[in-house]
Amino acid sequence: MSEGFTKSGLSIPPIGLGTWDLQGPTCSRIVREALELGYRHIDGASMYENESEVGQGVIDSGVDREEIFITTKINTTSWTPSKGNGPSLQNKDIVKHFEQSLKDLQTDYVDLLLIHWPKFETNLADMLEILYKIKDAKKTKEVGVANFNSHLVNECINLGFNDIYCNQIEYHPFLSQAKLMEVMQDFDLIPVAYCPICRGDVARHDVLISLSNKYSKTPAQIALRWLYQQRAVSIPKTANSHRLKENFDIFDFEIEYKDMLKIYSLERNQRLVPNLEINESKYPFD
Ligand SMILES: NC(=O)c1ccc[n+]([C@@H]2O[C@H](COP(=O)([O-])OP(=O)(O)OC[C@H]3O[C@@H](n4cnc5c(N)ncnc54)[C@H](OP(=O)(O)O)[C@@H]3O)[C@@H](O)[C@H]2O)c1
Repeated sequence: MSEGFTKSGLSIPPIGLGTWDLQGPTCSRIVREALELGYRHIDGASMYENESEVGQGVIDSGVDREEIFITTKINTTSWTPSKGNGPSLQNKDIVKHFEQSLKDLQTDYVDLLLIHWPKFETNLADMLEILYKIKDAKKTKEVGVANFNSHLVNECINLGFNDIYCNQIEYHPFLSQAKLMEVMQDFDLIPVAYCPICRGDVARHDVLISLSNKYSKTPAQIALRWLYQQRAVSIPKTANSHRLKENFDIFDFEIEYKDMLKIYSLERNQRLVPNLEINESKYPFD
């Protein structure tokens, strides 16, 4: 595995295993196999309802906890402002949910704790403060966000939270994130790409198939390498042992600049995960 991308002294491995939709023994098995193959980064979330299985896979692998970069995410779907009308997820609930993640994962800490979804009507500063308290208590090494558009990234900075570790966003050859990537670069947030192989769609695209022939790699490897050469971390999910190996094997070739441009040109605004919290007319996606 290649060197990770480092910020504030913490290095994140460029390929992680996504765990959304992995359930039961399959989940534990693939996490164990990933770690045996050399993966050192597992992306999870309380919302995926499989953290016990992820934790079991880590234990079964026999790899030291300190060697593994584990991400979890706070489920904020039921968070509403404390003065709002609907059910309110209070600070103590966030901590309680996070403690449950630690228990399920059978660990004392995670490496990265993310806000899973932005909530515009919520007090962002309050929410981030809770996460930073968890960091102060050494239960997470770093704090990050997910699904934040450039408006929200700017908001974090304006609120004084200028050391957010990363922003986890949907990013693959069929969805341009040019503007957001630029803003994240300005503020030194590490980009983490989810759906990096567009849930398998990259394997069916003519240009990616022709590049895969040129480089003797698969289309998924071309997409993952394209992200890596932009210094973006990728977290492809698979339940298949063969594809697990394939998705990790991207460090022995380099895509030429002209081919990088060809892949950028495949953008067709294909978004797999609509961000329901974002009022698009007020705050566009990018
Ligand atoms: N922060 C967020 O809001 C958010 C949202 C979505 C996802 N995520 C994270 O990102 C991870 C990845 O995203 P994702 O799972 O939605 O999509 P993805 O990784 O782009 O694609 C996964 C799908 O592609 C197939 N696949 C895997 N490797 C392949 C290969 N080499 N060639 C062809 N097909 C392949 C998998 O099938 P098999 O299992 O059969 O191989 C699976 O159906 C998630 O698991 C989750 O951890 C985060």
